[in-house]
Amino acid sequence: MARPVAVITGASRGIGKQLCIDLAAAGYDIVAVARSSEESPNKALPGTIDEAVALAKAAGGAQCRAISVPLDVRDEEGVKALADRVFAEFGRCDLVVNNAAIAPPGPTLQQPTALWRKAMDINVHGPLYLMYYFCPRMTPGEGRVVNISSNASQAPEFGRISYTTTKRALEALTEGMAVELAGKVAVNCIRLELSVWSEGYTATLGKGDFSNFEDPVVMSDAVLWFAKQPVSYTGKVLTIAQLRAMGAVRGVTRVGDRAKG
Ligand SMILES: NC(=O)c1ccc[n+]([C@@H]2O[C@H](COP(=O)([O-])OP(=O)(O)OC[C@H]3O[C@@H](n4cnc5c(N)ncnc54)[C@H](OP(=O)(O)O)[C@@H]3O)[C@@H](O)[C@H]2O)c1
Repeated sequence: MARPVAVITGASRGIGKQLCIDLAAAGYDIVAVARSSEESPNKALPGTIDEAVALAKAAGGAQCRAISVPLDVRDEEGVKALADRVFAEFGRCDLVVNNAAIAPPGPTLQQPTALWRKAMDINVHGPLYLMYYFCPRMTPGEGRVVNISSNASQAPEFGRISYTTTKRALEALTEGMAVELAGKVAVNCIRLELSVWSEGYTATLGKGDFSNFEDPVVMSDAVLWFAKQPVSYTGKVLTIAQLRAMGAVRGVTRVGDRAKG
């Protein structure tokens, strides 16, 4: 039987990289998407899509196909080309995980409006482009989208207004797309309300001990659970605590020594 295919954005580090590993171990072929690649790494943060692909292949075994596609999700033509490539090379796409995001800190009114547009473009338009170019080509009844939101969507006091605004928009986009794609593609959202260890998030927090942050594997549990639900299970926005209470996510984790690198 052909293996299911998952497209994961923000796959160069953090939660996205972990998703590549755990989805590969669960039997998916992997398309790892982000900007940082071996050829063009991020100067400030570790991690590349090529590294994620190597880890996915190691976790998925000999049958696992995994490719890295360097792409900025703001590039609509690039997302369209990504969809063309995935359907040409794999013949299918079963799961899209819209995980890539930025969370610009600082007072909005003291920053250039270009930064606001950047957050909108990455956190809202990127997921829209992925859904726009992938969902209509997914096998009706088989497709799944999981969007990654944050509790910041509910917390204006978080102090990152573009992040709050874009994550709230992503949740609305989830609910709206679920209606538009009813019966064809299930569109759901994880409103991550915990601190999950990732290279990007901890870098924004400065120096500190992050060993009590949760392990990113909890996000893999949540995504895999959503992926297994019937297509009629759609339009949900659920926190990790809610998913845990339903038995969808393992018990509380601590990233521990992994936080040291
Ligand atoms: N960690 C937490 O506790 C937490 C809490 C709530 C919600 N979240 C959400 O969880 C998701 C993952 O967060 P994380 O903590 O793993 O973040 P991270 O370590 O900063 O990783 C973010 C990923 O997004 C990619 N990305 C950023 N801009 C992109 C663009 N324009 N095009 C393509 N890829 C782009 C980055 O790759 P490149 O730089 O290589 O492009 C990177 O792979 C995000 O949606 C975040 O909002 C996280």
